[in-house]
Amino acid sequence: MCGVTEFQAALGIVIDTLEQMRAGGSRSPCASRTVITALSAAPATAPEAEFAPPAESAIGIPSKAERLAPIRARVLVCPRCPHLAASRTQTVFGTGNPDADLMFIGEAPGADEDAQGEPFVGRAGQLLTKIIETMGFARDEVYIANVLKCRPDMPPGVSGNRPPTLDEMQTCLPYLAEQIDVVQPKVLVALGATAVEGLLGTRGTMRDLRGRWHSHHETPLMITYHPSYLLRNQSPAEKRKVWEDMLLVLERLERPVSEKQRKYFL
Ligand code: URA
Repeated sequence: MCGVTEFQAALGIVIDTLEQMRAGGSRSPCASRTVITALSAAPATAPEAEFAPPAESAIGIPSKAERLAPIRARVLVCPRCPHLAASRTQTVFGTGNPDADLMFIGEAPGADEDAQGEPFVGRAGQLLTKIIETMGFARDEVYIANVLKCRPDMPPGVSGNRPPTLDEMQTCLPYLAEQIDVVQPKVLVALGATAVEGLLGTRGTMRDLRGRWHSHHETPLMITYHPSYLLRNQSPAEKRKVWEDMLLVLERLERPVSEKQRKYFL
């Protein structure tokens, strides 16, 4: 009998292969959008596996968590960038509440995220968590994902991180598009220039882009500095700018903002 994870991974490979056949214009065997959508919405259990308690899918409506599961399974075994598949410890899909109103998008996993399989768990992640909590959310109330699901590879013996290439981003972005499509947050926050490039396809200076509303397929999008920029540049004025962007997000979400929060400096 195959376990749930193996079943999800196998289903993921089937779906990914069908997507690639469609993208390549293959007509036989038929990989119709309807079939791929139905497979993607399949319950995350093998037919022989133990049944989970009845979920929304029991009444025919898959929950967002159930819709994310097959995407996660495809990402888990993704072979699309062979150099990254060879160098990664694991893929880093995303974390948090699939029903979140607020979704943060970062650049790519670093060494800590590659080791732990979760986005934003290193130093930049600790600062992001502090920002989220100061906004009045628990970290697991929001959803967090990256443009790239693999850590960009580094030459042997070289530490640090490199930004994703355009090619890597274009290859990986369909996964993020699917995640956003399922979560459908009320507000998106792009952290840094790579996230902006992934979401809007533009490269601008953060100074010009941050602090005002943009739109990503009609979802309000706030652009702000990446937390690692704040770690490099400890100036209170720069930190305050990020906080002011987050105050705009709170207002947009119609969340109460206390006097203490309004005056806060990260
Ligand atoms: N930086 C990112 O952009 N994403 C992470 O997950 C970690 C650091």
